[in-house]
Amino acid sequence: MGKIDIFDTTLRDGEQSAGINLNTAEKIEIARQLERYGVAVIEAGFPASSQGDFEAVKQIAKTVQNTTVTGLARAIESDIITSYEALKYGAQPHLHTFIATSPIHMEYKLKKTPDQVVEIAVQSVKLARKYFPLVQWSAEDATRSNKEFLARIITEVIKAGATTINIPDTVGYATPTEYGALFKYLQETVPGIETVKLSAHCHDDLGLAVANSLAAIENGATQIEGTINGIGERAGNAALEEIAVALQIRGDYYKTESGIVLKETKRTSQLVSQLTGVIIQPNKAVVGKNAFAHESGIHQDGMLKNPQTYEIITPAMIGEAVTELVLGKHSGRHAFISRAKEMGFELTDDKYAAAFVSFKELADRKKEITEEDLFVLLTDQQITAEDVPVYQLNSVQVQYGTANIPTATVRVTTPAGEVVTVSDTGSGSVEAIFTTLERVIQGTVRILDYRVTSVSKGRDALGEAVVKVRFEDQETIGRNASQDVLEASAKAYLNAINRHLQKQRTLATV
Ligand code: KIV
Ligand code: ZN
Repeated sequence: MGKIDIFDTTLRDGEQSAGINLNTAEKIEIARQLERYGVAVIEAGFPASSQGDFEAVKQIAKTVQNTTVTGLARAIESDIITSYEALKYGAQPHLHTFIATSPIHMEYKLKKTPDQVVEIAVQSVKLARKYFPLVQWSAEDATRSNKEFLARIITEVIKAGATTINIPDTVGYATPTEYGALFKYLQETVPGIETVKLSAHCHDDLGLAVANSLAAIENGATQIEGTINGIGERAGNAALEEIAVALQIRGDYYKTESGIVLKETKRTSQLVSQLTGVIIQPNKAVVGKNAFAHESGIHQDGMLKNPQTYEIITPAMIGEAVTELVLGKHSGRHAFISRAKEMGFELTDDKYAAAFVSFKELADRKKEITEEDLFVLLTDQQITAEDVPVYQLNSVQVQYGTANIPTATVRVTTPAGEVVTVSDTGSGSVEAIFTTLERVIQGTVRILDYRVTSVSKGRDALGEAVVKVRFEDQETIGRNASQDVLEASAKAYLNAINRHLQKQRTLATV
């Protein structure tokens, strides 16, 4: 069996999607889960892009010690040195630097000749190697580059000391056959390529990111890059959980191992979805809600006779909960904490105590507490205690009737600690809440997206609201899970505003 290293870029390429803005505590939580998931490299961010990214990468490099942590840097001296300041705390300092190599990028974006690009790439790798034992070099837009030029520049950066060469399909343009052939060509042409890791990085514009990554493996790639749930700019990146499961299920064909702990798949996927607010489509391979649902009579009949008739992946393999009903209102603190630990949560005593109080409140109103409910509750506890909300919803009340004008009244504690009560109307209950909260905030808030989904099953399921807003020229996503969808909507709206304000505050203070 060959070994494929999994390089996760959820916190860099994934976080680049419009509207996603994770705070440092959330990024650390995702990084810790990626470490448990068994990825070989975590790309924690782009340290030179902002003070917030720098801080997050530094904290992750300090926290994660069993997985290599990297950060992205342009081929610019200050980017490389700034990245070192953030990454030097890692067990194995690793830098990812890149420059574009396609004619269109070199001419229009970089305004450089191919010879100049080779020179810049070589100098950046040489400089990076003075600081970092491990340096990955990427040829941005490799799949639209001239392949002879690509072979030439890769030859030079390997001589300059690059330890990994990455061939990104930046705009998701390649087909599997072409992408595989490019890997083959480079291995036949570039001297010394057998001494470095060879990496694939695919975007999903044509829906081919996973297929292209697998084609790269068939043609000699030893590292695959992607994100959890395939999140990322535009159509996203290759979904790592799909690649890991494909390598396991079709081990007979690919004959490789990824080192991924498959039973952590569901939890990793849920965490990323919950913290980014990016909902997973129900029919998504491996982690979609319907990935293991069998509707048709013929399929159900087959499943009862032998599950292998229609199920090639088992829910247990990816860590999907087998126990539907986990805890109830009579469960004690001990049972609650041991279930949380079984689920992989490691909270401080104070946070366990606070989580137990929330659990009891929920259990008083909801008959069955499922694993999904616990997941939302414990994750919220794990993250939020570090960030004091800027606006706090004390209460929300809506008067609605088919013959009335919907009217909302909210009571909110403002950042200044003042408690205000405001009422306003809307054409529906949710609009009335949003309009009223906008008056509390005294700014213009545009709603870009709004969704409510149920966290678990049943009529008393928790409702999760996700609100994407544009506020002070920035897009932000807020989320909240509550038993009432109107309360969840109000809290998600304020969560979006708070996240924006917290980010501004971090930028202003660091
Ligand atoms: O898609 C891309 O080209 C990238 C590079 C920075 C590696 O994300
Ligand atoms: Zn990318």
